[in-house]
Order: sequence, then C-alpha cells, then structure tokens
Amino acid sequence: METKIYKITSPHDEAIKEVGRILEGGGLVAIPTETVYGLAGNALDGETACKIFSAKGRPSDNPLIVHISRFEQWTPLVKHIPDTAKALAEAFWPGPITMILPKSDLVPQAVCGKLDTVAVRMPENEIALAIIESAGVPLAAPSANLSGKPSPTCAEHVIEDMTGRIDAIVDSGDCSVGVESTVLSLVTDVPRVLRPGKITAEMIAEVVGEAEIDDAVFEKLREGQAVSSPGTKYKHYSPEAAVVLVRGDFEKYASYVRENAAEGTVALCFEGEEEKLCVPCVTYGKKNDPASQAKNVFDALRAVDKIGAKKVFARFPESEGMGLAVFNRLLRAAAFNIIEL
Ligand code: TXA
Ligand code: MG
Repeated sequence: METKIYKITSPHDEAIKEVGRILEGGGLVAIPTETVYGLAGNALDGETACKIFSAKGRPSDNPLIVHISRFEQWTPLVKHIPDTAKALAEAFWPGPITMILPKSDLVPQAVCGKLDTVAVRMPENEIALAIIESAGVPLAAPSANLSGKPSPTCAEHVIEDMTGRIDAIVDSGDCSVGVESTVLSLVTDVPRVLRPGKITAEMIAEVVGEAEIDDAVFEKLREGQAVSSPGTKYKHYSPEAAVVLVRGDFEKYASYVRENAAEGTVALCFEGEEEKLCVPCVTYGKKNDPASQAKNVFDALRAVDKIGAKKVFARFPESEGMGLAVFNRLLRAAAFNIIEL
C-alpha cells in the first residue's frame, strides 16, 4: 500500500478535507494530537477497527480510544454521562485525558476489545479537531506506533513504523506533551487512573473530590491478577536494547555507569550530564523538569536503538505529578528492572 504524506500546519489547510474523505471512506490515517500521533479510523465501523489492530500488530483485546471534537458526540457513545464525567470534561477537555464509561450499542465490539466500556477523549490539538470534524465521525485512534515500540511524538517516528501499512500520515511536527493521555476509569467506585499522563490524579481529585491510581501503574501484574486496563499486560515502549532504571543521585549514577560499562552501553540521562559520563549518551529532557522529560522520553527510547545500544542505564525521573507519567513509561521500557544505588 502506498502511504501518502500530508504536511499540515494549520487547521484551515485544504488538505484536511482530503484526509476527512479518506477516513470517511474507511481508510486509516495517522494524525497528530497534543500527546502522541494517533492511528485513526472511523470508530463506528468494526471492520475499520480490525484494520487498525492489524496495521499496528496489536492484540485485538487491547481496546482503542475514541476521539471526539464536540461534547455532543460523547452522548451516543455511552450509556450515561455521570456528573463527575461532565465536570472533568468541563475542566480538562479539549485536552489529554481519556474517560472510560459503559458503552452504548453504537460502538462496535471490535473497538472496545470486547469490553462493555468505551474510552473517549477530546484532543486539544487543533489539527486533530479539524480532522475529526472533517471526517464527520468519531475516530478510534491508538498511538501510531507498531505494537510494543515507543509511541510516536513526531511524523518521522510514524513514517518509520507505518509506511506501507496505512493510507496516509499527517505531518504536523512535534507533539507538545509527548506522553499519552491520562486514562481514567469512571466505572470504579472512586475514579481510577489506569495510565498516568499530564492531567494528574491530584488535578482530577481537585475537580471531583477523589481519585486513586491503579496498582498496575507502579507494578508488574501478578499471575492471575484482574486487569483493569488491557494495555498494562503487554510489553510496551521497548527499545531493542535492554533498559535498566538506575535510582540514585548523579554522582552514584555516574560511578555505576563507569563500573558497569561494556561495549554497547548507553546512558539515558538528563541534558548537560553527558560530559560527565564515560559512555555514549542520549538525553531525555532536563533534570527536575517532568514536562521536558515527557516531551523527549519516547524520542530518546527510539534514539538508543539508532546508535546501536545493547544496554541502557536510564536516570530515574521524579515520580511526582506529571513525572509519574514519565516514570511509568520508563518502568515499562525497562520491563520493571530497577537498580537502587
Ligand atoms: O494520548 C493518547 O491517549 C493517544 C492519542 C493518539 O490520543 N492514544 C493512545 O492510545 O495512547 P493507545 O491505544 O495506545 O492506548 C490506549 C490505552 C490502552 O492502554 C488501552 O488498554 C486503554 O487505553 N483502554 C482503552 N479503552 C479501554 C477500556 N474500555 N477499558 C480500559 N482500558 C482501556
Ligand atoms: Mg499505545
């Protein structure tokens, strides 16, 4: 399949109509959002959802997020919108939070991995919103990477993974947030964060009084443990290289790297630390700045493979606030492998 590339930098670009027509006709298009690029298709068509799973190589029991551009599009997708959900939508939409509610019959089973709930979000990116409007239907869109690879935060990442597998890629430059949306379940007694993102549990609790964080954000699922979000049971964000998260201050980290360096060792560190390390380095943002770490972490995980890393010693990010999102992605990239110094 030939994959067309559209460079679009304005929500008023004429090409958005063409992209809308491809989507309306059942095609697949990678689109920018403020978090990561999404692999979009008509969310109301089960066959299109199946094509998304196969283009990504994604297990079909891992459900897709449905993207809307207006509040009214939410009502027909779900059984009922509780007041908590309305308040959160008012506070954070358009923006990087996805809410899970019981699904209506309008949403095909294939989109929801056969669960009886549906995850919905209204992205903030103006080009994404214009594309949803132009398609005239809500769009199912997982991150536009091959399953298991780091999520794509620029068009080049999507081109690497998806060329020849989908109809088109919209190139709108770098994503501003860089980690995927917060996934929040509203079918639990207390709203529960299944995947941390820029909108933190603290911010959610400020709006609705309380919020908890699912154990799977911090820990590997135990044998036989019930899964609240199917995404948490699959290998994720993994470079080819083996990643280890190294916890300790910079001096200790630098000595650890020095003592354990071998051929193919790469340091995944913060900006400005490179000159004090004795191995090739890839940086992922600034120390004490979770927003810059979020913006760079996926590109850095791809970059270590490009320089042929065999083993990656990653600096430990702060895990507070938005830092939790960065920590969670690195923890998965490292397959929960942490060294405490
Ligand atoms: O920022 C984002 O959310 C990006 C952009 C493109 O919008 N999308 C994204 O989609 O990250 P994806 O498919 O890569 O991740 C969706 C996550 C998965 O972990 C999936 O298991 C979970 O959301 N999920 C989706 N529907 C769910 C549901 N009904 N119940 C529980 N978890 C759900
Ligand atoms: Mg994904």
